[in-house]
Amino acid sequence: MAIITDEIKEVAERARAWALATVSKDGIPNVIPVSSAKVLSEDEILLVNNFMRKTEDNLKANPDKVAVSIWDLRAIKGYQFKGEARIETFGKAFDEGVQLVKSVTPQLNPKSAVVVKVKSIYITSPGPNAGKELP
Ligand SMILES: Cc1cc2nc3c(=O)[nH]c(=O)nc-3n(C[C@H](O)[C@H](O)[C@H](O)COP(=O)(O)O)c2cc1C
Repeated sequence: MAIITDEIKEVAERARAWALATVSKDGIPNVIPVSSAKVLSEDEILLVNNFMRKTEDNLKANPDKVAVSIWDLRAIKGYQFKGEARIETFGKAFDEGVQLVKSVTPQLNPKSAVVVKVKSIYITSPGPNAGKELP
């Protein structure tokens, strides 16, 4: 299983927003920008649900069909995560999400935390390794 290294974490921290892709029960793809997001551990990422609609429906229908793309435009570096999502409305990850959102927009009240257990990581940086899966 791939590990979120410090190098990948740095790209995640520099990304202004992450792209979160999900799939509906009928197989329709959906991709949204998410700015309230962070790396939780070497195999988990957190995206905070403030406004998700189709995304939330899709996560409930197909929690294992999730892809997240992050990139650092300045360094022209990027990674793609694939994994399985769970929705949490209380607990440590939810509290972290609330803190993350409220530090920027105090009046917002997050609906839930979307925690993605990362199963695979791909390089999206342009060049000979583009598209390759990390070991
Ligand atoms: C720059 C930007 C950042 C956003 N960040 C978040 C976010 O952190 N959390 C969230 O729930 N929605 C965020 N949104 C809203 C979602 O992208 C999207 O509008 C929402 O999930 C509804 O779309 P859906 O029905 O496809 O889920 C952001 C939108 C933009 C344009």
